[in-house]
Amino acid sequence: MGKIYLGIETSCDDTSCALYSAEGGVLVHRTAAQLDHARFGGVVPEIASRSHMKTLLPLYETVMEEAGIGLRDLSGIGVTNGPGLTGSLLVGLSFAKALSYGGGLPLAGIHHIEGHIMANAIGGGFTTPAVVLVVSGGHTMLVHVAGIGRFEVLGGTRDDAAGEAFDKIGKLLGLPYPGGPAVEKASKNGDPRAFDFPRALKDSGECDFSFSGLKTAVMLKAAQLGIAPGSASAAGARAVADLAASAQEAIVDVLSIKSAEAVRRLSPAIFYMAGGVAANGRLRESIRERLAPSGIPVSWPPVEYCTDNAAMIACAAMHHFGAGRIDGLGLNTFPRGELASWA
Ligand code: KG4
Ligand code: ZN
Repeated sequence: MGKIYLGIETSCDDTSCALYSAEGGVLVHRTAAQLDHARFGGVVPEIASRSHMKTLLPLYETVMEEAGIGLRDLSGIGVTNGPGLTGSLLVGLSFAKALSYGGGLPLAGIHHIEGHIMANAIGGGFTTPAVVLVVSGGHTMLVHVAGIGRFEVLGGTRDDAAGEAFDKIGKLLGLPYPGGPAVEKASKNGDPRAFDFPRALKDSGECDFSFSGLKTAVMLKAAQLGIAPGSASAAGARAVADLAASAQEAIVDVLSIKSAEAVRRLSPAIFYMAGGVAANGRLRESIRERLAPSGIPVSWPPVEYCTDNAAMIACAAMHHFGAGRIDGLGLNTFPRGELASWA
């Protein structure tokens, strides 16, 4: 089986453990979603940390049992140490440190965004130079990856992240939490051209994004149509579908226009997508269409590795260890922080 690496991810509201090896890819991956947040319409940090405390140890034991291995069979541990919710990160990091100390195993702190990017390396090669569109609940950015561990952030959002926009729009349309998948589902019955929502910074020529104006525009239109959160009548269902489809189209348009622009400027060997919003079918379709003239291949991870997961963290850690980068037990968490090169 070769060397096996354990990944731990607890940066937000999902508790995740995975085992990864160069030869076998993802050996076992388990993610436990915290459903308690749904009734609050968003993640409650205190609930998230306490839930990680309860879930992480049994999840780790399940993963090890399923693989039929023990601590002494591991070659290293990767753990997300930021950015994210401090309480949540501390649970994962403390747990990883305990295993590292007890098993005498090397430890690597992984930047959450690097994890999302490295989801594209799961089960095989990772081509560079690459342009990567990272679109999640907390981040929206275009990154130039010159090589493993060599990042240049080309631009990011000035306000809301794309996933955050999906979540807020879902909430104001009375759709279930999280908003992203719900908006995508509702959009299937709607007309994406029903409402002409703003595409902020579309022609700025830079890789910056802004989604807060879109959220306000959808809110005003929903109010004008008499749609109140959580009270969509049968008659309003059509309007909700049109609002969802038009809002999704505005987000997708901006993301794919800017991605095509970055690809045109940098001529990378490949274009990757990463993060929860990369699971969106309409975004995938639009990116493919807009990048087709460039002839540059487009790729994204399977859906289960787009959203938060520990397999991407274990895979990233394997590359850190391979390059000889190891963290000590003094490793700390960081709530915010740019994606910096380490190679
Ligand atoms: O990467 P992720 O799991 O967590 C963060 O690091 O933020 O991303 C979660 C985000 C949420 O905002 C969720 O609504 C969004 O990804 N998302 C989607 C879809 N699936 C998840 N957004 C649009 N369409 C989807 N199918
Ligand atoms: Zn994430």
